Amino acid sequence: MPPEPLPRPAAIATGEYRERRRRLMAGLPGDAAVLLPGAALTPRSRDSEYPFRQDSDFHYLTGFPEPDALLVLLPGREAGESVLFCQDRDPHLEAWTGRRCGAEGAEREYGIDQAFANAERDERLATLLDGRATLYLPLDDSAALHLAEALRAELQDGARRGARPPLAFADVAVRLHEERLIKSPAELALLRHAGAVSARAHRRAMQASAPGIMEYQLQAELEHEFLWQGGSGPAYASIVAGGGNARVLHYIENADTLRDGDLVLIDAGAEFDLYAGDITRTFPVGGRFGEAQRALYEVVLGAQQRALEAVGPGTTLAAIHRGVLRDLTAGLIELGLLAGDLEACLENQAWRRFYLHATSHWLGLDVHDVGQYRRDGEPRPLVPGMVLTIEPGLYVPDDDDIPVAYRGLGIRIEDDVAVTEEGREVLTADVPKRVADIEALMVKG
Ligand code: GLY
Ligand code: MN
Ligand code: MN
Repeated sequence: MPPEPLPRPAAIATGEYRERRRRLMAGLPGDAAVLLPGAALTPRSRDSEYPFRQDSDFHYLTGFPEPDALLVLLPGREAGESVLFCQDRDPHLEAWTGRRCGAEGAEREYGIDQAFANAERDERLATLLDGRATLYLPLDDSAALHLAEALRAELQDGARRGARPPLAFADVAVRLHEERLIKSPAELALLRHAGAVSARAHRRAMQASAPGIMEYQLQAELEHEFLWQGGSGPAYASIVAGGGNARVLHYIENADTLRDGDLVLIDAGAEFDLYAGDITRTFPVGGRFGEAQRALYEVVLGAQQRALEAVGPGTTLAAIHRGVLRDLTAGLIELGLLAGDLEACLENQAWRRFYLHATSHWLGLDVHDVGQYRRDGEPRPLVPGMVLTIEPGLYVPDDDDIPVAYRGLGIRIEDDVAVTEEGREVLTADVPKRVADIEALMVKG
């Protein structure tokens, strides 16, 4: 009998999407407009596409799940401020690819003020945007820029007849991404669930690990759990890296045999209702840490636990990263992997030989989520509602000057954490990381 699935959190309510659109518009000039395309299907090979994944910004503002849609926000427009263009109903195509909700459904099911079929887009858009002085759009999206430029040219052509073309394009991301950085209670529930599902998957991989199996077989354990729990799959390409493969930070081939005596590093997380989990655990393939493996592991674990405890309102990611560098460097000196005085090693960045990534990133709809890391050039203080990872690691080169027992080891430990009024909530606590707890889970199988 498979275990009970975890209880699913509620979907985000239509009213919350409406409130997000209202908040975005409230921060824009009254004569501005927002133009935000959703994602299109991406071809994979002849006649077959990648599974559809909505654009995160578009999803954040609409919850609308179909390809080829366009959101237009028109602050103050009496006939409706939120306008959506979407695929039209088409019985023939729907027989192949499933139900489309159509313009009427978009209004009824997604709380959009006014929706039209894409077939009406070209004739309606210029009129809708006439007199909107600034168009806010994603400036890094060439299709959106192309559309905005075509509309500007059309209105410019009509200027003699009284059309008022836009005077400027601006980046919608600046405001929108600041909004996305602070998660609502409903978003936190989804991130908590993505974390819990990811944690279950990691436990399962630990229990399935055995010398001789393939990295991709542990990947299969993880991804089965993601889907079985109702997730859409991995939030990013799963990393299952045995032995020295762990030193390749984005190793995704997952094609080697797992060997007794080696560690395996797994960095994998579920996507649930478009929200990402992101967990890394490193454990012995055969269930027991060797002496040097354990010693290095304890250094990373100590740094990770202290960093997690430091998360809370008012601190910064830069300060947390500095703490991690100090802990890792002290550990490396203690193990004889770095020589000399702690302050000197920090000063000359001796840790760079063993640790080359950041300790944290924002987490949300995107695994490396949006939001500025600095304000006015300074690291920004954490506030409740931010969600981030804590993921220190050590990666030991295979060099002659390194004691043999440490050569080639790669260890990372990563958890997801939400900043709360009181401090923090770890969203991925339900997967062991203390040596004794990992070994106990793996022995029990
Ligand atoms: N899995 C990507 C990361 O940890 O940043
Ligand atoms: Mn991460
Ligand atoms: Mn990760």
